Amino acid sequence: MNILFVGDIFGSSGRRIVREHIGHVRHAHAVDLTVVNVENAAGGFGVTPSLAEEIFDLGADVLTTGNHVWDKRELLEYMRSAQPDSTERPRRILRPVNMQRGTPGYGVYEGTTQSGIDYAVVNLMGRIYMNGTNDPFEAIDTVLAGIKAKVIVVDFHAEVTSEKMAMGWHLDGRATAVLGTHTHVPTADERVLPGGTAFQTDVGMSGPYDSVIGVEKDMVLHKFRTGMPGKFEAAKGNPKMCAALVTCDAVTGRASAIQRIMLGE
Ligand SMILES: [Fe+2]
Repeated sequence: MNILFVGDIFGSSGRRIVREHIGHVRHAHAVDLTVVNVENAAGGFGVTPSLAEEIFDLGADVLTTGNHVWDKRELLEYMRSAQPDSTERPRRILRPVNMQRGTPGYGVYEGTTQSGIDYAVVNLMGRIYMNGTNDPFEAIDTVLAGIKAKVIVVDFHAEVTSEKMAMGWHLDGRATAVLGTHTHVPTADERVLPGGTAFQTDVGMSGPYDSVIGVEKDMVLHKFRTGMPGKFEAAKGNPKMCAALVTCDAVTGRASAIQRIMLGE
């Protein structure tokens, strides 16, 4: 079984580069399950229902988010419209599972691929330099206890490399893949851990690389150099799609390979 995980889509150039590549990559690798992190798809801040629909139209099965999930208020109603056992699109866009109790939406989706393989996707968020999240290690243990599928993909949306690596080891042998998002910088440490969990500290942004993590570089430089607030806008130059391709055994859920993907114009 092949799983494609596309890193954080950032702004219009990120959407465009993903539109350009996701189809041929899915086709070339006979991808069974496609997961895309979309939390910065709308100009770098959140995602709207119509943009989520666009990305579903490209073949995504499940969309994940992170700390920017509520930046666009329209998404709240979209996610609120999801029923627990539904397979409709609003149910297949996730927010981090370890947000505060009572947060709208869902952090886990359990589905079946067209080829009949049961899977689960979990959106999890780190605690270091992040607000409003509960202990991700405790949260994922609780979540995994309730999942029947063997194929389990965890998007760990976190800032700090150590927290992400620790999560990889915490879940080794219990998840098919633990893939980091949020920093927008891909790391070259992809590997299959001894217990059969594919891991990469950060898959990287699908967006403009002539930028500072997606934002127009001059605006960020101005802020660093003057300490003054300013407007942040999504950059456009040098877009790349970053993704991880995970191969696993559909029966056991154990990963056998992980490949890093970075495709430009
Ligand atoms: Fe983020």
